[in-house]
Order: sequence, then C-alpha cells, then structure tokens
Amino acid sequence: MIRQEKVIVLDFGAQYSQLIARTVREQHVYCEILPYTVSVDTLLDIAPKAIILSGGPASIYDEDSPKCDPKIFSLGVPVLGICYGMQLIGSYENALIKQAEKREYGKAILRIEDFSDLFAGFEQKGEIQVWMSHGDSLAGVPVGYWLLAGTQNCTVAAIGSREKKIYGVQFHPEVAHTPLGYKVIANFLFSVAGCTPDWTPSSFIEETTQIIKDTVGNNKAICGLSGGVDSSVSALLVHRAIGDNFTCIFVDHGLLRKNEAASVEETFRVHHKMNLIAVDAADQFLNALAGVIDPERKRKIIGEIFIRVFEKEARKLGRVSWLVQGTLYPDVIESGSVKGPSATIKTHHNVGGLPEEMNLDLIEPLRELFKDEVRAVGRELGLPEQIVGRHPSPGPGLAVRVLGEVTRQRLDILRASDDIFISEINRDGLYDEIWQAFAVLLPVQSVGVMGDERTYDNVIALRAVTSRDGMTADWYRMPQETLSRISNRIINEVKGVNRVVYDISSKPPATIEWE
Ligand code: XMP
Repeated sequence: MIRQEKVIVLDFGAQYSQLIARTVREQHVYCEILPYTVSVDTLLDIAPKAIILSGGPASIYDEDSPKCDPKIFSLGVPVLGICYGMQLIGSYENALIKQAEKREYGKAILRIEDFSDLFAGFEQKGEIQVWMSHGDSLAGVPVGYWLLAGTQNCTVAAIGSREKKIYGVQFHPEVAHTPLGYKVIANFLFSVAGCTPDWTPSSFIEETTQIIKDTVGNNKAICGLSGGVDSSVSALLVHRAIGDNFTCIFVDHGLLRKNEAASVEETFRVHHKMNLIAVDAADQFLNALAGVIDPERKRKIIGEIFIRVFEKEARKLGRVSWLVQGTLYPDVIESGSVKGPSATIKTHHNVGGLPEEMNLDLIEPLRELFKDEVRAVGRELGLPEQIVGRHPSPGPGLAVRVLGEVTRQRLDILRASDDIFISEINRDGLYDEIWQAFAVLLPVQSVGVMGDERTYDNVIALRAVTSRDGMTADWYRMPQETLSRISNRIINEVKGVNRVVYDISSKPPATIEWE
C-alpha cells in the first residue's frame, strides 16, 4: 500500500530539518526528510505534493556549498525554501545575493506586505515576531516574484511566485521563536500545495497493520519488550497485525524501576492478551555485575547476557522469521543525514539490540515516527498513560544509576528513593513538564546526625532535565517546596540515605545519565 500524499524536506545540513518535518506532520500531512543530493528521478517516483528546502550552515558562495538539482524548480511541484533554501531559489532565479559581514541571529519583527498565499489570514497582525539565523540574504526580488515580507535588517525576507508555486522565507517558521510560523507552513501546505490533512495516528495504525500483515504472512515474529514506550507500541502494532504468531520476550534483568516488571505483565499478558514470555534473569545479571565498577563494562556485560537470555527463550519457540524493533525516525535520518549539526549523535550500546547471529529479518513499525507521534499512536492503541507518558530509561536500567558496584541492597536503596522522587513530582503535576527525572545513588558516604547519633550513610542525587530529544538538555528548575518534600521523605523513609543533592548541570557539557 502506498501512502497517498507525501511532502519532502530536502536537508541541506540544517539544525532544524527535523523540526520542519515535525511542524508539517503536526498539520497532519505526512513528511519525510531526504538529503539534498537526492536525484530528480527518485523525487519523480515519490511524486511529492510539495518540497521544502531546509536551511543550512553554508553560504551560497562557498566553493562546495550544497546545491540540489535545479530541475527540482521546474517540476511544477510547489517549493518552499527556508533560509539557505530561499537563497538557493534566489540563485536559481539569478537574483543578487548579499554576503553579510555579520550573521543576523535572533528575534526580528517581520512586516508583512502581501496578505495572500503564505500570509493569508495574517491581516490582523501586520507584524509578527520571527527568528532569524543567517549570513547571506537576497538583495532584491527575483524577476517574476513578489515581495511578501521584510524586516528592518533584511528587506527581502519572504518572496513568492504564485505562477511557479515557489516561495522563500529568510526566517525560520519551524522554530518556537516564530510563534505563528506553523501558520505560514500550513498556508504553504494547504493553500499553495493543496495537501489533505489525513495523516493521523489512526490512519497510521490502519496502514501499518496492513503492511505488517502483508510482510509477515503466516510466519512468526518476536520482540524484546522492555516496557518502554517504543517497544510497547511496536509490540501492540505487530500483535494487532498477526495476533498469536507474535511473541514478546520480556527479560527482567533485576535493574528495573519499582513496579516496572509487574506493570508490563499486567498490560500485555492480562490486558492485551498477548503471548508474553517473562524471564526473571536477575540472578544471572547481578552475579555477572558483581565487583564491576566501570560503566562501559557494565553496559557490555548487560548487553551480552541480554542477548544470551533472549536467544535461549526465542529458540524454544521453533521457527521464527522476524524480529520487531522500536527504531524511531530520528535514528533513521541521523544515519543517512547530511553533514552539519543535525548529523552529530551519540550512539549507545543499546540493550535489546539485534542478536545478529539469529538471522532474523527486521520489522521496524515505528521507523517513520517521531517520539511524540509514537506516544499518540500508543494512546490510540489503548496503552495506559503510565507507559505512554513514562520518562525514557536507559537499556542497562538502574545499573548505570547505581554508581560503583551494583548490588541488590544498593538497587533497593535507589529504587525506593527514585519511587519517592517520581511520586512527589507526579503529586505536584510536574511529571509531564520534565523530559526525564530519576535518582542516582552515589558511590560516596557522608556524615550526618540522626537523633544523638552520628551517621555515615549514602548520598542520593536527584536529576531532572528538560529536553526535546535527549541530545541536549537543561536542568529542570524544580520548585523548592517540591525539592524539600522529596529530600525529607527520602532521608526519613529510605534506610541508608542521610543526604540528598540536586544536579544542576546541563547537557552539554554533562550528560543526562551519570554513567
Ligand atoms: P546521555 O546520558 O547520553 O543520555 O545524555 C541521553 C539519553 O539516552 C539514554 N541512555 C541510554 N539509552 N541505552 C539506552 O537505550 C543506554 O545505554 C543509554 N544510556 C543513556 C538516557 O537515559 C537519555 O534519555
């Protein structure tokens, strides 16, 4: 089955390419990112409803500046060029492009000159706030185009040709600092390109279920269920498609958060009536981790045992042909992306990764989705909010949050502290504002007093960050009253802890996890 409508974002190395794609999809129009080097033939095969040229760090005057095939401009497919993309349009149309001595970076006020097409419906707001980040800009309006808007520093900040259906904006409509930018993109999609807003979680579910059914046929598939949102949503989709030919293997490595294992069994086996094999392998993992302090060694040991346990269980199922993985769209684009800031990503030794020797073909039902879309699909499939909205957790679980040696006793201290932390931020309604919140057990002891006695006990660090994608993060400004309650409760209720600290480091230079 081929999806009816697709918009293509051509990536010129922009920091914001993914944001452009997300903004388009928020309008319920399906959109994919391709490198600017894509051939016109490939584009013709895709038959996009519209093409958006991203920004990028290059100057059009650089010797090796990225250029797409100019035939793209004569396909009759509507084009919107953003920032560098607008300069490409200018260069194609032989307009003069000014090289700036100094980059313009920050907020600007855009004066709208033409209230049709891109700026239809903006009459009430003749001036809007926009975000600029550019060096070069157009010195004049190309022949056959209209000036649509300008700013004080950049007189040609938006242009368009209704006849050619080609438009360019110098500002970034996709970022939050251009509050009405989504409307500019919506105008392009619907008024200029005639797109239909039919990309929804339910259309995705219908279509993907059918594709999985057709692909897997009567063969068997398995998945390593972690209880995280990605593997949970993947599993529900595949179960919907092939029912009992699908089995989930849940490896409990003894490094899970409080109640995590029970909630997975309840959700998938009891509620969704799926084939679920739950393996309690805690002893195996904890024995192998005894005495290990180095974080990378911990990860490696956990990864290896995970594969061994998983394989052993899978073999019991007889002939299995498919392995389901919860790969998301950002991983797919990062691996094939254009040079530039969007290409830098940290790779992790992911627990639950592909056991290569098993010779299974991969199904990745979420490879077209961003995280927030996965959550929307999960909700539509009836996944409980507790799983859909849960903060991400690293594959090696609490092993990388118990700094130093991982023992049952230290895991218990961490689990109890973490549970108090999470329940208190839930109580204050802060959970959904935070990308990730967790407790860390430090490998130091500190002196305290309890009653008349001197104590020498553990320190718990609390970590809470805001982030869009985990790549960068800021520490969360937690209300002091909440912090105070959490600290009191942990010190009073968790035996072995006499001190709580709050981590105020951002990423970079720190990372989100401590190990
Ligand atoms: P860092 O600590 O690198 O984490 O800033 C970024 C995000 O990745 C998660 N993380 C992991 N996820 N396996 C995973 O599946 C891992 O080994 C791993 N290490 C870190 C982390 O929780 C954060 O969301």
